[in-house]
Amino acid sequence: MCSKYIGNWQWFDYPVLGSTNDFALNYTPVFPNTHIIFTAQSQLNGRGRRGRQWFSPLGNLYMSQLFFSPLPVNQMVYIISLSLVQAIESFNPKCHLQIKWPNDIIINDCKICGILIEKRPDNAYVAGIGVNLTQAPQDTTSYPAASLQDFDIIISRQEFIHAYITMFEQNITKDFKEIINEFLHRAYRLHQNITVNSAKEKFFGQFIGIDENGFLLLKQEQEIISINTGEILFS
Ligand code: BTN
Repeated sequence: MCSKYIGNWQWFDYPVLGSTNDFALNYTPVFPNTHIIFTAQSQLNGRGRRGRQWFSPLGNLYMSQLFFSPLPVNQMVYIISLSLVQAIESFNPKCHLQIKWPNDIIINDCKICGILIEKRPDNAYVAGIGVNLTQAPQDTTSYPAASLQDFDIIISRQEFIHAYITMFEQNITKDFKEIINEFLHRAYRLHQNITVNSAKEKFFGQFIGIDENGFLLLKQEQEIISINTGEILFS
């Protein structure tokens, strides 16, 4: 393991871990001003959202941020996904990046990055981020995936973390309305008909925006509904 600082974030890099999120969740009690990043060069048990596995071979970025914030998860999701997109844009401004609500980063309808936000009993955030820098799973049936390298975007893990943390530090101080506006500029299928897979049901309708709570607004025949959790399906 080696440790260094990126700004005021202490960065611990391990050759291999089960899951950087599990490691951060079980890390010793921390203080209110904690800013730690854990990375692993590969993971044996990388976890995705909804109980899925996260493909974690050597060559990609597997990182978990451990920190406190009074902001609710519904805002943090947008801050993190926007910061990730802006980090990639800073290396390749012409690249057509989008965010598939709530927090999948995609290029040309292929997922290249996923986020798993969890909370510890002491209320600290554990924000897990997986970025396909060089490799993508070939066998996913649920969604198409790609790596940044597939689009000739070559970024090292360290460069990526630097760029991401710079954006994150800026975005976390911004007004939530500004974050949502920036998010909507890059939102996958905005103004189009979508399917949202929520806890137990699927919703269909036109994606018309995000409200002040971070809920997705879906226009159906008779009404507009707001959805708190779930994910837009690829279509
Ligand atoms: C998703 O399903 O889209 C979320 C994927 C999150 C993967 C990252 S990799 C680093 C961190 N450790 C994990 O076990 N999961 C997250």
